[in-house]
Amino acid sequence: MRTGIKVFAPASVANVGVGYDILGFALEKPGDEIIVRLSDKPGLRITKITGAKGKLPTAIEKNTASFAALKMLQHIGEEGRGIEFEIHKKMPFGSGLGSSAASAVAGVMAVNEILRRPLTKRELLPFAVMGEQIADGAWHADNVAPSLLGGMILIRSNETLDVHRLPIPKGLYATVIYPKVEVLTKHSRGILSDQTSLKQCIEQTGNLAGFIIGMYNSDIDLIGRSLKDVIIEPQRAQLIPHFYAVKNAVLEAGALGCSISGAGPSIFALSTNSLIAERVGEEMTRIFTDAKIENQLFISKINQEGAVLL
Ligand code: HSE
Repeated sequence: MRTGIKVFAPASVANVGVGYDILGFALEKPGDEIIVRLSDKPGLRITKITGAKGKLPTAIEKNTASFAALKMLQHIGEEGRGIEFEIHKKMPFGSGLGSSAASAVAGVMAVNEILRRPLTKRELLPFAVMGEQIADGAWHADNVAPSLLGGMILIRSNETLDVHRLPIPKGLYATVIYPKVEVLTKHSRGILSDQTSLKQCIEQTGNLAGFIIGMYNSDIDLIGRSLKDVIIEPQRAQLIPHFYAVKNAVLEAGALGCSISGAGPSIFALSTNSLIAERVGEEMTRIFTDAKIENQLFISKINQEGAVLL
């Protein structure tokens, strides 16, 4: 067997409360790993998938990782290349942590690396978004862009993928809990009203702008005041049992802000240091464990690297 290369693409928190479909950040862990090998037999093939309990398709056009890679190979005129994929899911899916995005990112990243980087990371972005799109049918880069590029990313326009990286204040930590309840992204998007009042728009744009200024100036109080979602969270909170109990406990424990991670059911909080992040994690775990809901906790700095070759 030929030696392959292995890449890692991290989980991510989309929306970040104030930026539905246009804001997201990457976590240091968990994430997905993909190993690719060149083969003499033309075309892409998935030879192995682990960690997915048989739930992921192996058909090239249906799997987010291989579809993204195929689109990228077509773009550079190399679709005939023989490439074998091993996909190792090392994070929960259907969790609101950008699992399909991480797979799509790992797919394009792995192929780009084995072909000795014909494209820059930034140029890989549209193909990774195409991969993720087959998972929930929608075109948005708020998980894919941070998973690929790292950091906290604002997507000014999803259509043109006009993406911008925000500076991260020192010491910022994310605490994320995944309560094991089923929330389907399609459903979680489907329940959202397409009507927003002018009052809500004014409040939400003020908060988004305040959040961005806070990130640029490391103004922690401003970040805290701004991390309030008046449009999406009130509509989705019903999908997550004990959401408001968790949010109240977490803010009481000193978090800057707390909201739903992506389409849910995961909940994230931002804190100014690891001690607070851990205390926040204890509160989150306590509430779900007391309610007998299985859960998984992740505490991480904001991942600045995004997808990497291991
Ligand atoms: N912005 C997306 C949502 C992320 O909240 O539905 C999940 O795909």
